[in-house]
Amino acid sequence: MSVAVIRDLDALRRQTAAWRKAGETFGLVPTMGALHEGHLDLVRLAKSQCTHAVVSIFVNPAQFAPHEDFDRYPRDEAGDLAKLKRVGCDLVWSPDRSVMYPEGFATRIVPAGAAEGLESDFRPHFFGGVATVCCKLFTQVGPDIAVFGEKDYQQLTVVRQMVRDLDLPMRIVGLPTVREADGLAMSSRNAYLTPDERAVAPTIYRVVSQVAEAAASGDVIAAAVAGGKADLEAAGFKVDYLEVRDAKTLAPLTTDPDGPLRVLVAAWLGKTRLIDNIGVAHPLHRGL
Ligand code: PAF
Repeated sequence: MSVAVIRDLDALRRQTAAWRKAGETFGLVPTMGALHEGHLDLVRLAKSQCTHAVVSIFVNPAQFAPHEDFDRYPRDEAGDLAKLKRVGCDLVWSPDRSVMYPEGFATRIVPAGAAEGLESDFRPHFFGGVATVCCKLFTQVGPDIAVFGEKDYQQLTVVRQMVRDLDLPMRIVGLPTVREADGLAMSSRNAYLTPDERAVAPTIYRVVSQVAEAAASGDVIAAAVAGGKADLEAAGFKVDYLEVRDAKTLAPLTTDPDGPLRVLVAAWLGKTRLIDNIGVAHPLHRGL
């Protein structure tokens, strides 16, 4: 039997109400489709913590600027459903645009705090679109948990902040980034890379790892970041940002940071924008 796909909100609510009545729990994995092994690990995690795993598939126009890749974003519903069946997904919530954003829709979540800087400096519309659609997905599905990958670390932090700030009765669970054998973080957008770009792409992981090691061993962070940017540019990337921030709040570093840190990067390789990040668990650094 194939995975059940629901596109109608009343039908979704009937199914989740039946699960609740039976005392069953369910976890949501929000996606935009074009699923890869990283997404499937999120579903496995949801399944391991709840009775049922629900996956939403919705390419959210509100998080793309007009010049971005909404139209060419990869879409493959039949392939996605086959993969989801393999990992035991119980239900796919795949609303049409008119169900998510009906005529007259006019409300938007405006996240600040963790949403400031990094991605927002280059994609100012992005977190408003993500927070709005996630808030809608959470109220539509009403899950016990929602599972997100750490690959989009700022997104994960913004969604955690929103759930806390709005007292949404659910828990956000993060899963460490799933990587290819050469270190490249799995992403639906990797499909855009040419073979030559794909060969160079793991440099981004090597660079964030180097900066994280430098911060952990007490080197001056600004020097490590400048070196990392130079390495990326020498490999053919155009860097949007490479920064080290507070891992919990994503606040810019103070002069004497003492908690866990996160190294975050976004850079273009040809027409493809890649992002990555890595944690610095026990920074010894004393200098910025
Ligand atoms: O990470 C994504 O795929 C999207 O930003 C999300 C969380 C599904 C919201 O559209």
